[in-house]
Amino acid sequence: MCGIIGYTGSRKAKKILLDGLASLEYRGYDSAGIALCDADGALRTIKCGGRVSELASKANAIDFDANRGIGHTRWATHGGPTEANAHPHASKRCVIVHNGIIDNCLELRDELSAQGYTFVSDTDTEAAAHLIDREYAALGDPAKALYSAARYLCGSYAIAVIFPERSGEIWAIRRDNPLIAATSADGAFLASDIPALLAHTRMIYRPKENEVICITEAGITKHNTDGTVEAIVPEETELGVTAADKDGYDHFMLKEIHEQPDAIRRAASHRINSDMLPDFSTDGISEEFWHSFDSISIIACGSATHAGLVGRYVIEKLAGVPVTVNTASEYRYDPPAILGKTLALAISQSGETADTLAGLRLAKSQGHPTAAIINAVGSAIAREADCVIYTGAGPEIAVATTKGYATQVAVLCMMGIKLGVARGTLAADEAARLCRSLSRDIPAYVSEIIGRRDEIRKLAVAVKDADDLYFIGRGPDCPAATECSLKLKEISYVHSEAYAAGELKHGTLSLVEEGTPVVALANDSRYFDKMAGNIREVRARGGYVTLICTDDFPHPTEYGDSIFVLPKTEPLFSPLVSVAACQILSYEIALLRGCDVDHPRNLAKSVTVE
Ligand code: AGP
Repeated sequence: MCGIIGYTGSRKAKKILLDGLASLEYRGYDSAGIALCDADGALRTIKCGGRVSELASKANAIDFDANRGIGHTRWATHGGPTEANAHPHASKRCVIVHNGIIDNCLELRDELSAQGYTFVSDTDTEAAAHLIDREYAALGDPAKALYSAARYLCGSYAIAVIFPERSGEIWAIRRDNPLIAATSADGAFLASDIPALLAHTRMIYRPKENEVICITEAGITKHNTDGTVEAIVPEETELGVTAADKDGYDHFMLKEIHEQPDAIRRAASHRINSDMLPDFSTDGISEEFWHSFDSISIIACGSATHAGLVGRYVIEKLAGVPVTVNTASEYRYDPPAILGKTLALAISQSGETADTLAGLRLAKSQGHPTAAIINAVGSAIAREADCVIYTGAGPEIAVATTKGYATQVAVLCMMGIKLGVARGTLAADEAARLCRSLSRDIPAYVSEIIGRRDEIRKLAVAVKDADDLYFIGRGPDCPAATECSLKLKEISYVHSEAYAAGELKHGTLSLVEEGTPVVALANDSRYFDKMAGNIREVRARGGYVTLICTDDFPHPTEYGDSIFVLPKTEPLFSPLVSVAACQILSYEIALLRGCDVDHPRNLAKSVTVE
């Protein structure tokens, strides 16, 4: 949510800022703005209550540019998405952009108003701008001003500040919100994430929480509370330039779906040793770790929760370790009662999700050991967990997660195998078979599914006009159905729900009438008879069944109005294959309905507010 970009150096800033904002669009936003400041301190702020393309037209029509500037995409929290509320926000001696939420903004507004500051927006950010200005006026030093302001600010923030009188400098501080700094031959940058900068540089620095940094054309400096200053040497990111573009695909979502087979293969094989057995030593996890808890409490949001549901199924089946899956927004206020030593396991693609971070912190404060499954390297959750398992999916730009989810599932499956071996519930030869299946067969099957896009498009055409669509399944298809359903609703705006197939007749079956589409997942032969029965119940009421089943499902034509046959997989890992098919189904339905696949309405990629 929200995006920050900043540049200072020998080049003109306007284009760099506008291009940077365009590459941050995926994070979700509804207004945008930039501030340009020249060496003499002349400042020009350009904002709009709409898309970055509108901002660019407006900015390009103005004959002003400078070698220093900050830009922002805003996702409205305090006040509507208007031009007045768009960032940057200026005070007397500074102009700022801000991601996050200032919880005590009302008190600050009252206090600062009483001290003579005038507010022209409804935002919390303007209070932060005036606060920083007040402290700067009193202390005369940007670093001292930012440290002092931080003491008054409750909430989360990443803030970039220009003090126009301080030529060439941009200052920044962050708490619970992402912000990176970077250097190149012709200047230095700030951004909310790495993809926004890959066109310019791969030399990245990640400021720590509440650390004040300053960027200038010469590089990055860190300013300590004791007044000392350190020059920062950034590190080279391993991400290539194409990580941030569509690479010829129509949408990021499609590109990321295509990246799934490799991403799953990497996530699994990275944790398999030469004996084909699970091995997490490259994650820095010791053997003792696997014996150090009695149960696991997963803390996550959205698709990461759904990955957790698959993880629960696999871990409980293979290792007999009890797992609860908790929605982070609930867990953070009402954690479940637990028995014994519980590992709190946060799952997050972005590593920034506010509720998941808060849940992890709560677990820590209650003395639980913590671990995190994360994609974004160095993100807040990754930094705070006792140990981190990186999924290695690479940048995920589409709001709807695909490879992010798939790699979370792959890591959880590897954890299940590892726990099974470590606790003696899984024989080595069976563990090796599962490792082979996950690292070799599953990626190949997902590739095959992706190659059958034309077939899936036909399934999509049949249900594209639906108002409601239900996914049902049993066993491993049950957690898979939850993710299929979320994928459909978030990008196509078709109302959808997922049910354990046996649960339908306990209420929801009353909604099934002539033509109601139901997607039935049937990938585990143990449940074929039961699934056949549930499908019959749907068809008897006129429901239209899309059957997605493995090739051993008996007489599929008697059950499905349309049928998509999947290769026979290890049932435990089948969600990786069936969800891939449903990702493409959702994508095709969204295209047929004319939806903006990569930027679904009202949604943001990184949900950094509660
Ligand atoms: C999934 O497609 C969603 N965009 C969303 O549910 C997402 O999975 C959720 O917000 C959690 O994000 P995270 O993995 O970055 O924490």
